[in-house]
Amino acid sequence: MQRRLNRILVTGGCGFIASNFILALLERRKDMLVVNLDKLTYAGNKMNLLALEQAQDSRYVFVHGDIADQELVPRLLAEHRIQAVLNFAAESHVDRSIHDSSPFITTNIQGTHNLLEASRKAGIELFLQVSTDEVYGTLGPKGLFTEDTPLAPNSPYSASKASADLLVRAYHETYGLPTVITRCSNNYGPFQFPEKLIPLMITLAWEDKPLPVYGDGANIRDWIHVLDHCRGVELAMDQGRSGAVYNFGGDAERTNIQVVTSILDLLGKPHSLIRYVQDRPGHDRRYAMDFSLPARELGFAPSVTFEQGLQETIQWYGDNREWLRRVQDGSYRDFMDAWYGERR
Ligand code: NAD
Ligand code: DAU
Repeated sequence: MQRRLNRILVTGGCGFIASNFILALLERRKDMLVVNLDKLTYAGNKMNLLALEQAQDSRYVFVHGDIADQELVPRLLAEHRIQAVLNFAAESHVDRSIHDSSPFITTNIQGTHNLLEASRKAGIELFLQVSTDEVYGTLGPKGLFTEDTPLAPNSPYSASKASADLLVRAYHETYGLPTVITRCSNNYGPFQFPEKLIPLMITLAWEDKPLPVYGDGANIRDWIHVLDHCRGVELAMDQGRSGAVYNFGGDAERTNIQVVTSILDLLGKPHSLIRYVQDRPGHDRRYAMDFSLPARELGFAPSVTFEQGLQETIQWYGDNREWLRRVQDGSYRDFMDAWYGERR
């Protein structure tokens, strides 16, 4: 199936993944209109899309608002004759969900429900939910998550994402809403908020501050460059089977300690900066994705190796210190002090 979409609503477009998605999409697709609905939480930065705003690109419309707003969302769908909704908006940080889960319920579950309800009533052609491998819980030393792996989320964040996935599934089964769910492993690359492992460790190492590694550092994540994930979402938008779930991964399993030592080596900093700290409660041991389904059906394949991507990412943060300085604001420092203060 090939959809011909050229008017889409992207939610959370000022966040890490969706800002990369919008920039890459508009670069490739001259006939695409993107309406970006973003609440501008601590993780959302209009700066990420400054190039589009400065160019006054008529293919891009920014709307400051909440996906849970029951009046705004239907109005936007009608006003811009939206054909597809791509829901990237979320509270996305596991540690914050452990600290305070309330916004995760409101945005990730109620917000998704509101988007689904408005999409159903507007008769849109596609609802694409951007989800995560974390809904599957944790793996032992062997095996991979497939799309049929039972959902077994372990954090309030992953439980809220799994709940949203189930609502999406129900809207497809009950109302026939055309839906696609994508589940991806850990992303890294430009514009990632510096609370997540890779940018956090880069920024701490620059300042010769201790690098907090949870538990024994042997937890494994499967790292994918953000632009490979974005390409997967675009393929799923264009060709994804209605009702399907697609797993995306980077084929790059690394322990956390491998990631942290690679960063230190690339920066020429000593391993003595590493501090093993109290583990994250409910910390999933290993994630790894079987992405043979999207490879077969969509032609998906990650293209950036972890080593190449990590080097480029370090370079990007080095070139964008002003961006970093501006996102490391008071609310950022308050959370970091509270969370890491408890774990010292
Ligand atoms: P992010 O935290 O960087 O950005 C989230 C964006 O959503 C921000 O711009 C924020 O302002 C916006 N937002 C939050 N609440 C909102 C609301 N109520 N209404 C409108 N906008 C709101 O997140 P990210 O890392 O870019 O993740 C994007 C999506 O991808 C999320 O759904 C996440 O679950 C999923 N995902 C992330 C990863 C990863 O490694 N980061 C991996 C797989 C899936
Ligand atoms: O797997 C996809 C998920 O990846 C996304 O759904 C989430 O939105 C995204 O935040 C990410 O979740 P993780 O919890 O895996 O990412 P994080 O960067 O927070 O942590 C990666 C690993 O590093 C994890 O095992 C915890 C560990 N860690 C993290 C931090 C912030 C540390 O050891 N020390 C730290 O200070």
